[in-house]
Amino acid sequence: MNHLSGNETLRELVIRYPYTIDLLNRYRLDYTFKGSETLAEAIRGIAGDYDKISDDLNMAIDEFIISKPDVIYWENEPIGKIIDHIESKHHRFVKEIIDEITILLETIILPTEIRDLGGFFLSLKEKILNHLKQEERELFPLLREYSENRTSELRQKCLTIMERPRSEHDEAKTVLEQINKMTNDLSLPDNSSPALCDLYKKLDALEKDTFIHIHMENSILFKMI
Ligand SMILES: [Fe+2]
Ligand SMILES: [Fe+2]
Repeated sequence: MNHLSGNETLRELVIRYPYTIDLLNRYRLDYTFKGSETLAEAIRGIAGDYDKISDDLNMAIDEFIISKPDVIYWENEPIGKIIDHIESKHHRFVKEIIDEITILLETIILPTEIRDLGGFFLSLKEKILNHLKQEERELFPLLREYSENRTSELRQKCLTIMERPRSEHDEAKTVLEQINKMTNDLSLPDNSSPALCDLYKKLDALEKDTFIHIHMENSILFKMI
């Protein structure tokens, strides 16, 4: 069945059908930073085959309708629950995987073509951890307070404090692009060692999680304020 017109924005698509995220990630359709593009525009942007991709998306939606798994439509949930989810799922994951990537980067001898990757990633580490810390210690408690006490004064405070994470999310986009450029879209060099394969797998997992994480913050949580 055709559920899509092509004119829905990627953001609308993900909010309405959250279970299409894996497929969008696979096709590199950027619902996080280019969420205002329509599906048709976004597919044109990656020079993709509209019929093939929309068939796959429709199939994923059909499968969902038939199997009816539990899915949470986050835009209908309270602010506190969304924050709990972001902290327990995404923040926890980022902290764990950053440690794992750091250990790999400190032990692997990187092939010359990606020699700069180690230094580049390690220089980001502190920045990412500070970003998480600011959200956990400053922004999220304030948003929780606002959800209990919706005054215009608190709202204004939230909007002001949200400016920094918002602009850091934009920077994250550039960083992911740089990593993809350095690694040729995470294509492994010939004869890569198992450790290097593991490193690329973890970078890929971090990238995919970052897309969902920032989508949850920018497109769902921050829009509730
Ligand atoms: Fe976050
Ligand atoms: Fe964030």
